[in-house]
Amino acid sequence: MKTVLITGASTGIGKATAELFFQRGWNVVATMRTPQSDRDDPRWMVTRLDVTDAESITQALTAGQSRFGGIDVLVNNAGYGLVGTFESMDEARVQRQFETNVFGLMRMCRAAIPQMRERGSGVLVNVASMGGRLTFPFYSVYHATKWAVDGFTESLQFELAPLGIRVKLIEPGAIKTDFYDRSVDFVHDRALSAYNDTVDKGTRRMNAFGAKGAAPTLVAETIWNAATKDNARLRYPVGSDAKSLLFLRRLLPDAVYRGMMRKQLLG
Ligand SMILES: NC(=O)c1ccc[n+]([C@@H]2O[C@H](COP(=O)([O-])OP(=O)(O)OC[C@H]3O[C@@H](n4cnc5c(N)ncnc54)[C@H](OP(=O)(O)O)[C@@H]3O)[C@@H](O)[C@H]2O)c1
Repeated sequence: MKTVLITGASTGIGKATAELFFQRGWNVVATMRTPQSDRDDPRWMVTRLDVTDAESITQALTAGQSRFGGIDVLVNNAGYGLVGTFESMDEARVQRQFETNVFGLMRMCRAAIPQMRERGSGVLVNVASMGGRLTFPFYSVYHATKWAVDGFTESLQFELAPLGIRVKLIEPGAIKTDFYDRSVDFVHDRALSAYNDTVDKGTRRMNAFGAKGAAPTLVAETIWNAATKDNARLRYPVGSDAKSLLFLRRLLPDAVYRGMMRKQLLG
């Protein structure tokens, strides 16, 4: 029986993914910062893991491996969004964003790869975003983290493929989860009044965009396909917005594309 370990499984995409793999007969190590579960089943394990805390990563992986004999699939899902005007963000806030979305994900990969290399198999599934290949206003640092995850993942698949380890990149569009409220760290200093109009307009439009998002189960289904289909595909956009925007981004000249986005989001 196969085993998946998922980060950020308390809510949203991570929770839906844990549920789907469990329903399809896998052993599940559902990791979260504050463990909670009402399921008591030998195939279900909830354990504490904070991607910014290396000790908790080692403990969770060791616990999962000793209970289920190894991790076949790692889903790096934990993340949040630092949003607002860059000028309002101090260094510590920017570092915290990278600590979670980039260095946390890398820490997870570093911890999981050795046992996958020894077994000659395994799948790393990194949840980036369509925002890892395109951008929206006031998400500059969040995008920087997701573009970093995109580049990291694309390069990593070259070096891990010969070892039998497949690497996947999930690129969700807007998904209706806690992301747009609880998982947004919004920062804008209203005293920087030159920004206020565009911040208000952009935030309203981005929130409306988020409210129309797809269900997290759609991402979970995509993660399932990425993890279980034995092929070399790297990128998995999720949702009609991700598919159409990434298509336009590729198709249109840069200035035309940016003009279209400016008009849609700030015009
Ligand atoms: N929703 C979207 O529109 C969307 C679009 C593209 C990509 N994504 C990406 O999808 C992933 C999941 O987001 P979501 O939409 O499912 O939002 P969510 O429901 O808010 O889930 C975010 C999860 O990340 C966890 N998390 C945050 N910091 C963590 C840390 N240091 N260590 C471990 N876990 C941590 C949260 O745990 P706590 O419960 O402890 O806070 C929560 O379980 C994120 O990487 C996000 O960037 C989302």
